[in-house]
Formats: sequence, structure tokens, C-alpha cells
Amino acid sequence: MRNYGYFEEGQIGSVRDLRLWRRILAYCRPHLAWLVAAVLLSLLVAGATLSLPRLLQWAIDHYMVAPNLAAEARISGLGRTALVYGLLVATVFTGGFVQVVVLEWVGQSIMHRMRQDLFIHIMDLDLAFFHDQPTGRLVTRLTNDIQNMHEMFTSVMVTLFNDFLRIIGILAILFWMNWRLALVMSIFVPLSITSTALFSRLARDRFRAIRSQLALLNSFLQESVALITVIQLFGRQQETLRRYGELNSEYLRRALSQVKLFGTFMPLTEFMGSAAVALILWYGGGEIMDHRLTLGELVAFFSYMRLFFQPMRELSQKYSIVQSAMASAERIFQLLDRRSRLTVLAPPWRQRPVQGHVRYEGVSYSYDRRKEAVRDIDLEIRAGETVALVGATGSGKTTLVSLLLRFYDPDQGRILLDGTDLRHFPPRQLRRIIGIVTQDVFLLPDTVLANIVLDSGAGATEVEKLLAELGMTRFVHRLPAGLDTRIGEGGLELSAGEKQLLCFARAMFRSPTVLVLDEATASIDSASEALLEEAVARAFRGRTSLVIAHRLSTIRRVDRIVVLAHGRIVEQGSHHELVAAGGVYSELVQKELSGLSDRAGEWKPV
Ligand SMILES: Nc1ncnc2c1ncn2[C@@H]1O[C@H](COP(=O)(O)OP(=O)(O)OP(=O)(O)O)[C@@H](O)[C@H]1O
Ligand SMILES: [Mg+2]
Repeated sequence: MRNYGYFEEGQIGSVRDLRLWRRILAYCRPHLAWLVAAVLLSLLVAGATLSLPRLLQWAIDHYMVAPNLAAEARISGLGRTALVYGLLVATVFTGGFVQVVVLEWVGQSIMHRMRQDLFIHIMDLDLAFFHDQPTGRLVTRLTNDIQNMHEMFTSVMVTLFNDFLRIIGILAILFWMNWRLALVMSIFVPLSITSTALFSRLARDRFRAIRSQLALLNSFLQESVALITVIQLFGRQQETLRRYGELNSEYLRRALSQVKLFGTFMPLTEFMGSAAVALILWYGGGEIMDHRLTLGELVAFFSYMRLFFQPMRELSQKYSIVQSAMASAERIFQLLDRRSRLTVLAPPWRQRPVQGHVRYEGVSYSYDRRKEAVRDIDLEIRAGETVALVGATGSGKTTLVSLLLRFYDPDQGRILLDGTDLRHFPPRQLRRIIGIVTQDVFLLPDTVLANIVLDSGAGATEVEKLLAELGMTRFVHRLPAGLDTRIGEGGLELSAGEKQLLCFARAMFRSPTVLVLDEATASIDSASEALLEEAVARAFRGRTSLVIAHRLSTIRRVDRIVVLAHGRIVEQGSHHELVAAGGVYSELVQKELSGLSDRAGEWKPV
């Protein structure tokens, strides 16, 4: 069972969390100059926007309703005012445009950096982490959460500043123009603020609910696609569809409940705005009759009100964007803070030649902290020795070699390489010293050559040389385009045996000091088998080798056989010694010789 609780989707970072803001701002720092420019620009835009209603007032009071001015003077005055108005509108437009471009660019750059940081971080995490994580959740982290942050940077950060500026500016102007009227309008401010606050709280709760459902949906989708072969093979489509349908419907339900909330709230604010207009119309009309207000001022007042209530309305939306972005930030940083459990002890191992002397001392490891996969393993493999691991399925063979490669660290005991605890080796360097052909083959959808050299930048000649040394030239020559044959998605599908040969060549290309083969010959066809046997025999020479193998043919070549049962070493010795001893191993050999091995699902090796 997966631990779905590690990064709780519902977990929400608080908007007031200063620590979080500091980390977000650290990402903004490289773009500080641009952000300051955007803020300055918003001052300009706010100034221009706020002078528009005043201009309107000017046009009305000085030219439209000015009976003692000549008609021509009024027309030319209106023309001039209109021109200034046009210029101001152009300023607002241009300023706004530049602001959007700048913010969009800064936002994208920051997201690019974050995505990069996250991915680099994830690549280095220990395998135990991935066993606990549904992949869909990691994908959500790199897509949705990053997108949320982006939205905050572009549509909120500076516009929020704009809005505040505008609200404060308008209030000041209105009180200055006619404080009685402004006071009347102010009745609506607390109303607007309370309903906005209420709305943002409700919106946040719904948002949380939607997010956690989306994460479930993503994980399920991802896992279903990954397991499609199994699902189709065992006819699980109906059940899978049903489960997906349930998750999807729940998502719809939650999304609709948010829509409902927005649907109620938006008209409500609209209504409040209109009610305010009606009130001002009534009160302002009276003020005009009493000559305490001009017509132009009233018109300007209405324009300001529109400018005032619009940001008030958007404030709540923006608040919820900030809120979800903070939640995303919290989760992103949490993931970034998740240190690999594989720490490197001081002093770290320094690059120097390794003999390949391996020693397990009282090693135990459990995947789930309950049942131990390997227990009290004491095993010494001398430099240059070849040791075979055999045992029933699930007896801990793969676990034992995974520990050697530091895919995990032992819970108890330690493993030494040339007398140095493995924990002093940075995993990357260790994996250069120890080559492995894993039980499950992993190939990139790329050329055969690329799969062998990976990112080492080596060329075909070096690979040809290696293949010749291993006697594997024939294998590559059989392929349609030799080393340049594309495999995997959109290319040639290799047979299971060919894949293993390729993985073997890949491991050998790094000329490892210690070679680990995990059932490398398990599913091989007879043509490839002969080839691989020959290659493996050559590979064993002069290096420490640990092989988990099926076949007597491979095991006969080894110096020593170690038999595992239920995570413990139960026997060890040479083939002849173990057969003579008449224990677990000799039983296995008997089974294989009498042709029972194919049926004996429980006992795999030999
Ligand atoms: N990633 C994992 N998470 C949890 N338990 C695991 C994991 N991998 C293996 N185990 C458990 O650890 C035990 C040993 O598994 P291991 O893969 O080492 O067996 P094995 O000897 O390699 O078997 P096989 O011959 O089938 O490859 C098994 O009981 C298995 O269920
Ligand atoms: Mg295994």
C-alpha cells in the first residue's frame, strides 16, 4: 500500500507565512529590476486611469454645461480635452501592455527555474522515496503547482499592488471632491469587504477539495496507463473504468460546487454596486439641486465608483489565487526540502583505484519497516571472486544487491567496499565502480549506441571494441542498422534476450570493478544465450562478480555459491560441496536435472 499521506494535497500554505514568502522572493531576486520597473509602471498607469474621470468632469462643467462660453470656444475646448483623454487612454494601454509583457516574462523565467530545480532534485532522490510516491503526484507538482505559482506572479503580484493603489487613490479623491457623497458610498465598503472575505474563505475550502481530488485523479490515470498491459490481460477494464468514473464524478461535483459559489457571489457584488449607484443618484441629485455639486462632478463620481468596485470585486479572486499559489509553494518547497535519505558520511570517499573487496557485516533491511527482506547477512567476497546468489523467489537476492549499489542503505549492519563503509561513497561514484544488469531491463527509446554509452559522449569505435572483446559483435550485426538501430517507442522492439545483452553491454562499457548480474540470463533465447554465456565468462575474469542466475551453466563457472532463504544465508560453498552436503542447493539441482525446474515456480535458481 502506498503512503498517500506524505505530501498531503489538502495541505495549505498560509498567506501569512513569512518564511514561505522569503523563499518565493529569493526566486524573484534575479528579476528585481524588472519587477521594480513593473511597479513604477503601475504608478503611471494608476495615475493616468484616475485622471480620466476628472477630465470627464472638466469637459462637462467647463464646456458642455457652460452657457456663458461661446460655442466655438466650447467645441475647441472639448476637442482639446478629448485629445488629452485619448493620450491618457493610450498611456494606460501602453503601460498596461508593457507591464503584462514584463510580468509574463518574469513569471515564466521564475517558473522555468523552479521546474528545473524540482526536476534536478527529484532525479537525485533515493529510490525509497519513489516507492512511497504515486507518480501522478510528482507530475502534479511539476505542472499544476508550478502553474499556480505562475498565475500568482503574473496576474496577481503587481496587479494586487495596482488595485490597492487604485482603491486608496479613489477614496482620497472622492472624499476630497465631496465628502458627504463619499461617506454615503462608504456604506458599501464594509459590506463589500465582509462578503469578499466570506467568499474567499469558502472559495479556499472548495479549492482545497478540488485539488486533492485532482491529485487522486492524476495518480489513478498515470497508474492505469502504466499498468495497461496488466489491466487488459486480466480484463480489469470494467473495474478500472468504474473506479475512474467515480473519481471523475467526484471531481466534477467538487468543481461544480465551486462554480455555484462563484455564481452566487458575482451577481451579489454586482447588485451591491448597482445599489450604490442608485443611492448616489438619489443623494447626488439632491446635492446638485442644492448647488453643492456640479453635474460633471457627479458623472466623475460615478466613473470613480465603477473603478472602485471593480478591484474590490477582483480582490477576493486574487486572494484565492494567492492562497492556492501559497499552497503550491508550500508543497514545492516541501519536495525540495525532502533530502535524499542516502547521506554521504564524512569524509567522503575520494577517487582512487578500488580492488573490489566486498563485505556485508550483519546487514538487515526492511522495505516497510515490518518484515525484513534480508536479515543478518554476513558475506565476504574477495576481490576478483565470482559468487552466485541462489534462493527461492522473494528470498532477498535482488534486495541484497540493491543494498550494494546503495539504492537503499541497510537498517542494521554495514557493507564495506575495500574496507570503507559504503555510506562514505556518493551513490553516483559508487555506481560507476559497481556495474549492474538489473532484473527488469530499462532501455531508452533511442539508438543501440546511445543506450550503451548513455551520456558519456563516447563514439561507435569504442563500443565496437568492447563488443569485440566480449564476443558480442554478432549480436549488433544482426540488427538492421547495427549500432544506429533505433529501439523502443517508434523503433525496433528487441527480444527479451536482446534487451539483456544490451543491458549487459551497457554495464560492461563502464568497465566496472564489481559486476552484478541480476538474473541476467533469465529470459534469454538459446541463440542469445550462447552469446551471453561467452560474454559473461569473459566479463567475470579479473573482476569481483556477483551473479543471480538461473542456469547451472553460469553457476558452474563461479567460485562460490551462496544460498538464501527467507532473507538469510543458509548455505554456501562450491557446487560440488553443496551437492555433496545434500541441503537446499542439492535439492534445487535435483529438480533442475529431473526437468522439474520449469514447473517449480517456487524454486527458481539453477
Ligand atoms: N520495493 C519493494 N517494496 C516493498 N517490498 C519489497 C520491494 N522489493 C522487494 N520487496 C520484498 O522483499 C522481499 C525480497 O525481495 P527480492 O526482490 O529481494 O527477492 P528476490 O530474491 O530477488 O526474488 P526473485 O527471485 O523473484 O527476483 C520480498 O518479500 C518482496 O516482497
Ligand atoms: Mg530478484
